[in-house]
Amino acid sequence: MLNHEFVWVFETPQELSEAAAEKFVKISQAAIVERGRFATALAGGNTPVKTYELIASAPFRNRIDWLKVHLFFGDERFVPLSHPESNYRMVVEALISRVGIPPENVHPVRTENDPATTARLYEDELRAFFPEISWPTFDLVFLGLGADGHTASLFPNTNALGERRQWVVANRVEGMTERITLTIPVINNGAHIIFLVTGRDKAEVVAQVINGQPNQENLPATLITPTYGSLSWFIDREAASNLS
Ligand code: 6PG
Repeated sequence: MLNHEFVWVFETPQELSEAAAEKFVKISQAAIVERGRFATALAGGNTPVKTYELIASAPFRNRIDWLKVHLFFGDERFVPLSHPESNYRMVVEALISRVGIPPENVHPVRTENDPATTARLYEDELRAFFPEISWPTFDLVFLGLGADGHTASLFPNTNALGERRQWVVANRVEGMTERITLTIPVINNGAHIIFLVTGRDKAEVVAQVINGQPNQENLPATLITPTYGSLSWFIDREAASNLS
């Protein structure tokens, strides 16, 4: 385990989600005090939905200065934003539609062109938001974990894993909808990187990643090693059941 990793085990997904929502509030407040804004890259999939719903509910919602919050996406499926598979649609339903965040502060991956153009345009939007720096500095990056060890849309043995120059790439994944994803260096440049993982079906991969060696290409989550920030694992008792 890397020395700046913190593993928090929660009895239930509800408790995990409440802790994650509290972290979102605290990190947003600190970022807004320090820099006048809070930029976060959100995870897709099912696990974070409860966290997003809590963030959008009292008391968490009322402790966040939404006018200074900027929501980005760690990855997106290459489908229309209204598609049931869209991470953007999921976050709109769970969070964006329930809070007073200005539309211009929400930065979806606009899946309107071909995948490569979509990735380039998203990178342009990121570069405009984080000007004059080599890598974007998200205050908070939420990540999920797939049973195969993928995170964001960084799947085992795919081209995106090796990208060290681009901030955003399109990533073809065998038998799946094409994906758009932040690259490893972008995620690793985050100030607070938090994996949210629940369920017994993730227990084996959680143990492999947390107990294993870093930088294993067949377990992409092990490539998440913060450049300067902190890496935390929020897991429930089920997902922790194989941890030594
Ligand atoms: C996505 C996510 C992906 C997700 C994992 C876990 O676009 O699906 O970014 O990395 O976090 O696949 O998904 P679940 O939370 O649904 O298990």
